[in-house]
Amino acid sequence: MNILLLGSGGREHALAWKIAQSPLLTRLFIAPGNAGTAGLGTNLPVDPENFPLLKETVMGNRIDMVVVGPENPLVKGIHDFFLADHFLRLVPVIGPRKNAAMLEGSKDFAKRFMVRHHIPTANYRTFTPGNAEAGFAYLESLNPPYVLKADGLAAGKGVLICDDLSQAHREFSRLMFRGAFGKASRKIVIEEFLSGIELSVFILTDGKTWKLLPEAKDYKRIGEGDTGPNTGGMGAVSPVPFADQDFMNKVITRVIQPTMDGLLSEGIDYQGFLFFGLINVKGDPYVIEYNCRLGDPETESVIPRLKSDLVPLLKAIADRRLERETVEIHPETAATVMMVSKGYPGSYEKGTIIHPPPPPAGILLFHAGTLLDPYAGQIISNGGRVLAITHLANNLPKALDGCYQSLPAFAFDGCYYRKDIGQDLISPK
Ligand code: AMP
Ligand code: GLY
Repeated sequence: MNILLLGSGGREHALAWKIAQSPLLTRLFIAPGNAGTAGLGTNLPVDPENFPLLKETVMGNRIDMVVVGPENPLVKGIHDFFLADHFLRLVPVIGPRKNAAMLEGSKDFAKRFMVRHHIPTANYRTFTPGNAEAGFAYLESLNPPYVLKADGLAAGKGVLICDDLSQAHREFSRLMFRGAFGKASRKIVIEEFLSGIELSVFILTDGKTWKLLPEAKDYKRIGEGDTGPNTGGMGAVSPVPFADQDFMNKVITRVIQPTMDGLLSEGIDYQGFLFFGLINVKGDPYVIEYNCRLGDPETESVIPRLKSDLVPLLKAIADRRLERETVEIHPETAATVMMVSKGYPGSYEKGTIIHPPPPPAGILLFHAGTLLDPYAGQIISNGGRVLAITHLANNLPKALDGCYQSLPAFAFDGCYYRKDIGQDLISPK
């Protein structure tokens, strides 16, 4: 079959790498892809949010299935666009419809959903310019730190954690009245701060049944020791040692199953990947957020641990027969470290020429923000997060060692990476 994968990050390179191994694949297209995906299929210069152009692309290349990597096309309704089109409706889209992608597209929607279905999450209230006064009062009723969230998509930057009340008041006004995140912050969720370790749990679902994928831990802050501003993610490990059977049973019975039952009972269809951003509060899982897609860089650790062919699983989602499939997982531990541009997550330069060598045996190199210059044949940086290096080994220290030993060979001008990925999960000797 011919598959079109949408997106251009490390997540999409990892997905392309996995899809390209399937005997069911005829041709793989990636829109727009990056320099890494160019070696696995055909990159097409098509914006995943340009639905009419996607239609031409799908028809022109006889695409049999579309796999959506990032959230924006889903929240904008790409799946609904396909279903509403006479020609496209027979081409399955892996990724939820707009009303289900709202779980990521609106924090307020997600919170209300969780409350309706008794899914553990931080206490919260939602405010708009009409009841902003009550927002200030609500902040006063909470203990620090204060968590403020823009309701809509804000490219991972819509959450502010404020240490004191006056800062929280200032940020609340800035979001609400000065539209710090544009439309995304016309509604603001204020919630209780939860203290614990975070992890990312992923499932595949066809709307009826679901299958668990390996969980992962992401490292969101730019600085070592989890300091400095949030990024898209600086590294990941999978599995997560504290996500033992007992904890995962709680995740399943308190979070995953009630979410799936809730979607079904509300008539919200969901075909695709669902990402539970969880926090472990004294052994109990709470939902920080839902995402309607896989995580990045978690995917670069999770997908290499998937032993099963991904394509039959995606097809089973499309055909709603996931129940009959099994998901086999490699028992090894995966570690991923992101190499980023100087200045990221603030302003950074693009266009640096990079020369990543062929990865040594056992190392997986996933491109994130890279571009192939077709004229010069050179690879150039095209984003904050540039390369992701993954290594699998029998245990976490070995997975990290393998990763870190190989990293210097991939260094480029001004690159930065965290040297402490996974360290918090290694028990002191
Ligand atoms: P989100 O975009 O909702 O994942 O939030 C971004 C980050 O903010 C999360 O990964 C957490 O580190 C942090 N965060 C969000 N909500 C809370 C909360 N209620 N308590 C503590 N930390 C939070
Ligand atoms: N790494 C977190 C995310 O993809 O949202």
